[in-house]
Amino acid sequence: MNTVDVIAIDGPVASGKGSVSSGVAKKLGFHVLDSGSLYRLTAYSALTQKADLDDEAEITRIAQSLKPVFKDGKIFLNEEDVTDAIRHEEVGLAASRIAVHTAVRSSLFELQRNFAQAPGLVADGRDMGSVVFPEAVLKVFLTASAQSRAERRIKQLKEKGISSNIDDLVRQIKERDERDMNRSAAPLVPADGARILDSSDLTLDETISQVLEWYREIRP
Ligand code: C5P
Repeated sequence: MNTVDVIAIDGPVASGKGSVSSGVAKKLGFHVLDSGSLYRLTAYSALTQKADLDDEAEITRIAQSLKPVFKDGKIFLNEEDVTDAIRHEEVGLAASRIAVHTAVRSSLFELQRNFAQAPGLVADGRDMGSVVFPEAVLKVFLTASAQSRAERRIKQLKEKGISSNIDDLVRQIKERDERDMNRSAAPLVPADGARILDSSDLTLDETISQVLEWYREIRP
């Protein structure tokens, strides 16, 4: 078990986990683990290799051979900068398909645990508090209404120069949430002891402040 403090922030698609995690980590000087990026990298590799996303053994092999490099806010795979490519909704959807495989999840487990380095870690995903870091000192389940999540995602994609259609996006978000919540391996559910944070009516700064306030209650 690691001895550094881990703050787990789990939640559905576009709940703001990424921005909240970076904001909290910045304030505390902690590392960040965007666990979704590992599922996206696996999916991206699988799509590039035209692998069958339902073939657990094949996708597990891809996940095991994954050697991503995280550098200066960018992600490289075999020296290719895939930072933006893995953000496409198509990759997100494929990620949720490969994420149902238990063996794929197990092969990404250690990779994720290794991010827990001093002085601390903010880990975002679906199963950070329930499976990967059950010892996390603070577990947050971040949520928001489907409408505000779709609007946020549109804005995010637009900033990245990716155009999207709101109806398609709402459908894809629902499809992904449903698959993430209903799968048998590490389904998206609030971890035991998780604090629920609904950010529908909160600004990003207010959401970050709430998480920091909870953390300070634990580590005054
Ligand atoms: O968070 P993000 O949208 O990048 O995650 C992409 C997909 O990866 C999710 O829809 C989910 O299926 C999967 N995932 C997961 N467990 C995590 C993080 C992401 O199953 N800890």
